[in-house]
Amino acid sequence: MILKINNQSLEVDVDPATPLLWVIREQAGLTGTKFGCGIGQCGSCTVQLDGVAIRSCLTPIQAVADKEITTIEGIASETELHTIQRIWIQEQVPQCGYCQSGQIISAHALLTKTTLPTDEEIDQAMSGNICRCGTYSRIKKGIKLAAEELAGASTINLENNG
Ligand code: FES
Ligand code: FES
Repeated sequence: MILKINNQSLEVDVDPATPLLWVIREQAGLTGTKFGCGIGQCGSCTVQLDGVAIRSCLTPIQAVADKEITTIEGIASETELHTIQRIWIQEQVPQCGYCQSGQIISAHALLTKTTLPTDEEIDQAMSGNICRCGTYSRIKKGIKLAAEELAGASTINLENNG
């Protein structure tokens, strides 16, 4: 089976029922995505499937062929962190950091479809991502700052193109 992860093809020869998280970490060697609970309850294994945040610990690879999988390693460019990642550092969002790949991937999925999300939209999008360190207020602030910056950038782009 061939998987598309972060714009690259990866041929894997494993049981089709194997959870995507195992393939991402063990076959693709992308260890930014974390194993937390293994039962869909914590969100540390969150990746995007065609832009939608999903739990990779519960997703068998047979369900993801022909879909674009994006992990935390795939949202930055070769030379620059993604705006969300940069703001996470600037605002010192993480504490231990374990949950943060999943938090950022969920935030990225939200901001890709919703330019300036409301508090309720942020709460709903992030509700499946648990942080044992309780960094929720910094996560929310980080999302709002990133949303404003990304919205500003798209306005500037439109002005430059217009
Ligand atoms: S490890 Fe997948 S939701 Fe916890
Ligand atoms: S920063 Fe430690 S679990 Fe979230």
